Amino acid sequence: MTSPDGFGLERVVVVGASGFGRECLDVLEAMAAAGSPVEVVGVVDDGPSELNMERLAARGVAYLGTVDEWLAGDAVTRRYVLGIGSPAVRRRLAARLEGTGARPFTAIHPSATFGARVAKGEGAVVCAGVAVSTNVRLGRHVHLNPNVTVGHDAVLSDFVSVNPGAVISGEVVLGTAALVGASATLLQNLWIGKGALIGAGAVVTRNVPAGVVVKGVPGTWD
Ligand SMILES: CC(C)(COP(=O)(O)OP(=O)(O)OC[C@H]1O[C@@H](n2cnc3c(N)ncnc32)[C@H](O)[C@@H]1OP(=O)(O)O)[C@@H](O)C(=O)NCCC(=O)NCCS
Repeated sequence: MTSPDGFGLERVVVVGASGFGRECLDVLEAMAAAGSPVEVVGVVDDGPSELNMERLAARGVAYLGTVDEWLAGDAVTRRYVLGIGSPAVRRRLAARLEGTGARPFTAIHPSATFGARVAKGEGAVVCAGVAVSTNVRLGRHVHLNPNVTVGHDAVLSDFVSVNPGAVISGEVVLGTAALVGASATLLQNLWIGKGALIGAGAVVTRNVPAGVVVKGVPGTWD
């Protein structure tokens, strides 16, 4: 099978054996089942738990060793997604992989919907049921968990994570490595600073400074 860009089958490695890593496997497998020229090669992880090793084995996915072992041993597969929920950890890993020849793969579940003129950064992962409106920019390694909605003209900077069911309203700008908790709602036209943590279920009604933790309805921080 040949992909539209002519490079053929994409053989993709997931970095991370924990929960989100295995959810990335679901996205890649759904893409393959829908006819995308994608194949899961396996999972790399510097310290997988015994339980996660069992979970990989139970679904027939190979463990390929640590990141260094993968890079040293695999001359063919140099495409990866970062299957790690923490924006900070993801950022460190992306920096570690830069210059190794490994290239991020952008994984989009076939059930996700997109309006016109949406830019998807390298390594972005978009899970099932996500709805992205028009003129949105998703940065590198942005994660959108299941059933997230992203409003028109929103900008999600590199390494942003949006947990399940959260609502990002129109024209919101999320700074690098910000995290939005499950079912949180961000009202329209807001700026969320770099590395801010928006708690699960919070309703954000004001601009948020970098690095703070926001909780409650309406969302407040120390
Ligand atoms: C807001 C958050 C970042 C705070 O983390 P934390 O600083 O480690 O907070 P703690 O667990 O130590 O709790 C501190 C206090 O905040 C409260 N709290 C924690 N999360 C809260 C939330 N989302 N909304 C309201 N209050 C919250 C706790 O009850 C506790 O209150 P107390 O001091 O009166 O006992 C975190 O709880 C959160 O919501 N993360 C997102 C989780 C998520 O999306 N999960 C889905 C993953 S797929």
